[in-house]
Amino acid sequence: MNFLCRMLIALAIVFIPLSEAKSQDKEAKKLMGDNYDVMQRILINLIKEHHDLIVKDIDIIIDHSKKISQMRINLTPEEHEQFRSFAYLLQTRAQNLKIISLNIKEKKQESTADVPKMDYLRDVAAAHFGEVVAMCVRCHNQFR
Ligand code: HEC
Repeated sequence: MNFLCRMLIALAIVFIPLSEAKSQDKEAKKLMGDNYDVMQRILINLIKEHHDLIVKDIDIIIDHSKKISQMRINLTPEEHEQFRSFAYLLQTRAQNLKIISLNIKEKKQESTADVPKMDYLRDVAAAHFGEVVAMCVRCHNQFR
């Protein structure tokens, strides 16, 4: 099974139970629901090689990661520090995915872009996506 198929399954397994969870905080719920929709769209655009569309979507995750760190949640000071560092890591990993997507987008626009190099970059973009998902999962394991 290829990497993207495995990611798709991982996304489904991890997030289906979550979307049924009951939350008091409507805003947090909406934020996270949006995150999930965006991540699905990004995955599809990775498969379809629409890296230009990923750039816009990943900005939503970057913006959300800043909001997550301000989420009202009952934690001890140590836990809160850990929580914020997860949110920050989500942000930096999302930024990495944005940079590589921009890179691919630009290379596509240059008619001289060589194909093997593009294939390599597409793999790198998929790996960065995996890193972003891993961050969603890590924070949920501990705090959800
Ligand atoms: C820093 C911690 C953290 C990170 C990173 C994080 N989440 Fe969450 N997520 C939470 C917490 C806490 C909740 C529970 C919110 C609540 O119920 O009030 C949650 C809830 C959810 C829910 C369920 C919302 C609902 O309807 O109850 C989904 C879906 C979700 N997250 C998706 C994602 C995705 C996708 C990512 C990665 C792009 C992500 N989350 C990253 C902490 C995080």
